[in-house]
Amino acid sequence: MNTIQIKDKHFAISIKAEEIEKEVIRVANEINKDLAGENPLFLSVLNGSFMFTADLMKHITIPCEISFIKLASYQGVTSTGTIKEVIGINEDLVGRTVVIVEDIVDTGLTMQRLLETLGTRGIKDVYIASLLVKPEKLKVDLDIKYVAMRIPNDFIVGYGLDYDGYGRNYPDIYTVVD
Ligand code: IMP
Repeated sequence: MNTIQIKDKHFAISIKAEEIEKEVIRVANEINKDLAGENPLFLSVLNGSFMFTADLMKHITIPCEISFIKLASYQGVTSTGTIKEVIGINEDLVGRTVVIVEDIVDTGLTMQRLLETLGTRGIKDVYIASLLVKPEKLKVDLDIKYVAMRIPNDFIVGYGLDYDGYGRNYPDIYTVVD
């Protein structure tokens, strides 16, 4: 399937599943190397990162834990700027090495908010692993240690990412066509 339609929008395939897999494995290998002996806790940010998290974790070979959090801020095709609270951090994070697993960093405001929340919890180190980054859209200064792919400033769906709730199920990534 090279093109798809979701509601009023058309999308064309832009990153194939095989390419995503290759980059996800590369990121997993970097984490395995960097965080060996750290017993990291992966915090996967739902909903968008469910597919990335599942594929990434299959290639993490060091002892680790995983948990899921939610922090919704996005509707339609532009960031609303309104960021809701973080739900689901039940673990004791004191002294832990935490890896935030995110689908995409766009303006970076969501990630900044999450880092602020985590900042009060006595974490040893926190790292960001993002499937995608739109460097042109970044509004805040973020150190994103693990990035699978950098993409242009276009709206995308697939591989966990949605348009109004739809499109998360596709194994490939699609870019909106005007
Ligand atoms: P930020 O706060 O602007 O960095 O937005 C981050 C969140 O917006 C991500 O976790 C996604 O849920 C959503 N998002 C940003 N860009 C896209 C996109 O191109 N497609 C789908 N969702 C997106």
